[in-house]
Amino acid sequence: MSLSAKRILLVIGGGVAAYKSLDLIRRLRERGASVRCVMTAAAQQFVTPLSAGTLSADHVFTDLFDRNDEHDVGHIRLSREADLIVVAPATADLMAKLATGQANDLASAVLLATDKPVLMAPAMNPRMWSHAATRRNRETLARDGIRFVGPARGEMAESGEAGEGRMAEPLEIVAAVEGLLGRRTGPLAGRRIVVTSGPTHEPIDPVRYIANRSSGKQGHAIAAALAELGAEVVLVSGPVTIADPAGVETVHVETARQMQAAVEAALPADAAVMVAAVADWRVASEAGEKIKKGAGGAPALQMVENPDILAGVGHHRKRPFLVVGFAAETQDLLANARQKLKRKGADIIVANDVSPQGGVMGGDRNEVRIVTAGGVEEWPLMDKDAVAARLAELIARRLASTLT
Ligand code: CTP
Repeated sequence: MSLSAKRILLVIGGGVAAYKSLDLIRRLRERGASVRCVMTAAAQQFVTPLSAGTLSADHVFTDLFDRNDEHDVGHIRLSREADLIVVAPATADLMAKLATGQANDLASAVLLATDKPVLMAPAMNPRMWSHAATRRNRETLARDGIRFVGPARGEMAESGEAGEGRMAEPLEIVAAVEGLLGRRTGPLAGRRIVVTSGPTHEPIDPVRYIANRSSGKQGHAIAAALAELGAEVVLVSGPVTIADPAGVETVHVETARQMQAAVEAALPADAAVMVAAVADWRVASEAGEKIKKGAGGAPALQMVENPDILAGVGHHRKRPFLVVGFAAETQDLLANARQKLKRKGADIIVANDVSPQGGVMGGDRNEVRIVTAGGVEEWPLMDKDAVAARLAELIARRLASTLT
């Protein structure tokens, strides 16, 4: 995928991960993009404007007020002259500033003044990342249309502490940029496809949740295979430990209701492929505090049904042309799959046997049957990647038939 002639404004925040942003500049330029850098005062404690300027082959902008700077083009022009703004590392401070509309330095003023898409790669100490204030800011920013890549789990460079907060690797950020800006080619170019993947977590109290064994491998592989064929893919992923696929916009959610809202927000689309193992039920009212063992014995959990996301999409007023669901069964595979096809308003059900002896859940291989109104096609036992590639081709053929 090429980023040729794309103009990226890279806002470098003050964190130790700033050193990775230097590599990011190189990687983006290798793909044909031009990169112009804005650095916060804190960023300059970690890397120098000279390094960023040398790698970007452009002036580095640092000051909101420096009218003497012959290069001063102003924060409005900086954002106007970009196709995308990437914030890497996006510190807790930069996120907080944009979430609350502050603009007291060049970086925050650029972010507030822009009407261009913004992609943030957060990097911070795991405690800062999991702090309620940061979570709130992230949610606000996501609602405002800011895109995110990462952070990943891992060891923090400065403290050795492990947890979520490590900045996404430069190539992952490049993939996210390509997902937003890259020119795509292939049979699915120009098609937008929504994919769900992974389990959902349904909270019982602040520390406990109900989950299932889905790893997200199959759904993520399908998202990647569709992107490979040129589709613009929005992947709505429940909590998984595998990486976001390259070239795909990934939206991270926890609960079924959040997944439903994210899918809804991603419509309209040409196709929807619902692979997630959505929890069928959630606890009726999540306890605000950890439930303690007490004299009362084990608590009785009152459950209520979750929305059926696939059925919602299958009967949606913005229904995609092609709706694909999965059927995970431990018995009566085909009969159940046919029933799901009808009930959920799907065009294709990919049926798989998830009996424990098959090792499908969490494993690398899958044996599926493709169930449509027209009949059943059996596919041999294959790697999940191969199932994904074949399904992506099938989807491309079905969508091609809509071209006039
Ligand atoms: N699905 C969904 N939302 C739900 C439940 C399921 O979108 N709340 C989707 C899954 O992503 C999958 C399909 O529906 O594509 C079938 O999932 P499965 O778990 O096999 O079916 P259920 O509807 O849960 O039916 P049952 O539990 O009775 O087998």
